[in-house]
Amino acid sequence: MQRPPAPAAIPEPSRPELPRHIGIIMDGNGRWARRRHLPRAAGHRAGVATIRPVMEACHAAGVHILTLYAFSTENWSRPRHEVAALMQLFGDTIDSEVGEMHAEGIQIRAIGDRSKLSPRLQQKVRAAEELTSQNTRAVLNVAINYGGRHEIVAAVRDLASRGVDLTALDTETLAGALYTAGLPDPDLIVRTAGEMRISNFMLWQAAYAEIYVTETLWPDFDAAAIEHALGAYAGRDRRFGAVPEAPGRMEEAIVAPASL
Ligand code: FPP
Repeated sequence: MQRPPAPAAIPEPSRPELPRHIGIIMDGNGRWARRRHLPRAAGHRAGVATIRPVMEACHAAGVHILTLYAFSTENWSRPRHEVAALMQLFGDTIDSEVGEMHAEGIQIRAIGDRSKLSPRLQQKVRAAEELTSQNTRAVLNVAINYGGRHEIVAAVRDLASRGVDLTALDTETLAGALYTAGLPDPDLIVRTAGEMRISNFMLWQAAYAEIYVTETLWPDFDAAAIEHALGAYAGRDRRFGAVPEAPGRMEEAIVAPASL
């Protein structure tokens, strides 16, 4: 399992009601293009243009860790020309964006099984990671050939190959073997284009993430849209499976099970 460089120590959000880490399922590029009678690749290109303003809006709001779902382990089954266009776009985007992101102090990390990418793209990914590995202003994880199930299986195999006793495996050890080791779990998963599903994205890490789905297509998503998502997040009651203890109600809580 090839991992990205260790994540840098990133500042905490500026306010407690903000998520520390946002994951985004960037969906709707194809629909955006179809509505304009354009090829799907044009939708993906428009989708790339959305990334920087959204990242800047997150950063301005005080959120410094972002994970973008760019290509899933299932996306290989798209038409060959679309896969080729996406791979080309990933390489071109690294060429055009990484210098500026580095200047802005962003650490770039690729998560997913990079061994299936072309050697040329793998080299670009590695170079971007190396160049930005010491940056500490923000982290951008780009999920390429990523699948949550694949990640968990790969992590378990990795632990086994290092001689870890799997009969004693615990959640901390497994979390420490994922691509996201060292990062907080996403507090908020945003999905654009309206589908109510998680599509194999950060299955482990999203255990207690708040989910926010918007009808807006990814190329139309912008700073105002992310602020709307942050507003919705701030209004959520996050209980992590617990019920807060109400003062004076302890007795009732203890007595209730016996009276069942
Ligand atoms: C889903 O929309 C989008 C993708 C599978 C690709 C997302 C990739 C980008 C926005 C480019 C990102 C590039 C970098 C370098 C991070 P869809 O095609 O499934 O849309 P549809 O559901 O409307 O058909």
